[in-house]
Amino acid sequence: MSHLTNAAASAAAPDARPGSGAESGAGAGAGAGSVAGAGSCAGAGASAPLTVAIVGCGVIGVNHARAIGRQPGLKLVALVDELPEAATALAELVESEGGERPREYGSLGEALAGHPLDLVAVCTPSGLHVALAEEALASGAHVVIEKPLDVSMPRARRIAELAAEAEARGQVVSVISQHRFDPASVVVARAAQEGAFGRITSGVASVAWWRSQQYYDSGQWRGTWNLDGGGAVMNQGVHTVDLLVWFLGRPVEIFARTALLAHERVEVEDIAVATISFESGALAVLHATTAAYPELSARVQVHGSRGSAIIDDNLLDYFYASGGSGGSGADASGGDAGASVPGSAGGSGSGGAGGEWDASGKSAVNQAADVVAADQLRGAELAADRFIVGHLRQYDDIVDAIRAGRQPGVRVGDALISLAVVRAVYVSATLGHAVAFDDILNGTHDDVVVSTGASS
Ligand SMILES: NC(=O)c1ccc[n+]([C@@H]2O[C@H](COP(=O)([O-])OP(=O)(O)OC[C@H]3O[C@@H](n4cnc5c(N)ncnc54)[C@H](O)[C@@H]3O)[C@@H](O)[C@H]2O)c1
Repeated sequence: MSHLTNAAASAAAPDARPGSGAESGAGAGAGAGSVAGAGSCAGAGASAPLTVAIVGCGVIGVNHARAIGRQPGLKLVALVDELPEAATALAELVESEGGERPREYGSLGEALAGHPLDLVAVCTPSGLHVALAEEALASGAHVVIEKPLDVSMPRARRIAELAAEAEARGQVVSVISQHRFDPASVVVARAAQEGAFGRITSGVASVAWWRSQQYYDSGQWRGTWNLDGGGAVMNQGVHTVDLLVWFLGRPVEIFARTALLAHERVEVEDIAVATISFESGALAVLHATTAAYPELSARVQVHGSRGSAIIDDNLLDYFYASGGSGGSGADASGGDAGASVPGSAGGSGSGGAGGEWDASGKSAVNQAADVVAADQLRGAELAADRFIVGHLRQYDDIVDAIRAGRQPGVRVGDALISLAVVRAVYVSATLGHAVAFDDILNGTHDDVVVSTGASS
């Protein structure tokens, strides 16, 4: 089974949206980008906008409302929250930013009865995702599920089956992984999958973030196994895990340790480290924490026998690719034979053919500026709407998928793989030994009650 959807790259590739699409979770509700801002895009104008309901009007519900408001193919008509004040606050925000006020409902069932809905966006606490997605799919609507897919592998497998049935009926089901649509991620995924880095040898994924005690205290579900499903890896790190497996391929074995070191009244980890081996033979290190004060970046490194790349906070920090498509061997001369740099007309980058080293002879020439626009390079000025753009790019893809009758760039199967990696981290840390990825995926360890820091 291949979980790598080139569709995400190809769907996102023509994207012309500016901005980094950065999304830090805690900052999701803040930032610029109004509900009624200017849109562009996929499928727009051809038919009436698709009617949308947002279920869960908290931090990320605000992001969805703003992204939907900028996507001309969508019309936000319903807001659902079990807390009436949350739905009302978001309705007022939508109105204050120039949008048409959506109707408010206390449950998805009421919204489905009250309004014809083409698309339902599930933005509730993570442990409720599958139940609500199931209800939405049964109504015949297309469905968008916030990350992570859920917190339970049995429920995640069930929604994967239901999504496959729904897809066969023509419904589109996508799981939010907005960073797959960042231009930097698209170019690195394509290079990795097309062999431009040669044989992929290793990866490093590090999420060095800080979440305050107030953050964990701000919602009863936060930091619980039942509804958050985990801590630094499940909630904050899953985006980076998803990129790592997108770039490196199918995992084989995971060995992890977790700990809770800088927060109280939290069941889950605020630091996790793991090693991951991949089917290709590549090895990776994962580090995810919400205890890295004052907060640094989320960073992914990919290394191969003929190239490497670094993405830092969703922007391209470093890129070098000298491998031809499918190439796997590094030649001793470090030559540039068959160079194929995605997005680069010449393919050899600023170093020129054969030039892998700069004048000092210390580092390979950085081709990053040749493969993404200047505003996607690390150090670029951060766009005011960066917390919205990633979701907007993914909605562009979803609208286009619905209009074109194709699969979206990120499918439930992709999110199931990422969730299984996260679950593998917790099972390994709990059992104190390495676990096989396939055993997590097929349910062998479903009965393990995970805990934090039990491996010491
Ligand atoms: N893609 C991203 O970058 C990103 C960023 C932040 C959060 N998220 C994800 O979004 C989800 C929500 O996170 P959040 O930070 O917005 O949480 P939040 O607590 O701010 O908001 C959740 C909302 O859901 C409502 N809710 C709970 N149960 C409900 C139900 N049965 N029906 C309707 N509404 C219900 C709550 O009242 C609350 O208003 C989580 O799964 C989280 O992982 C994703």
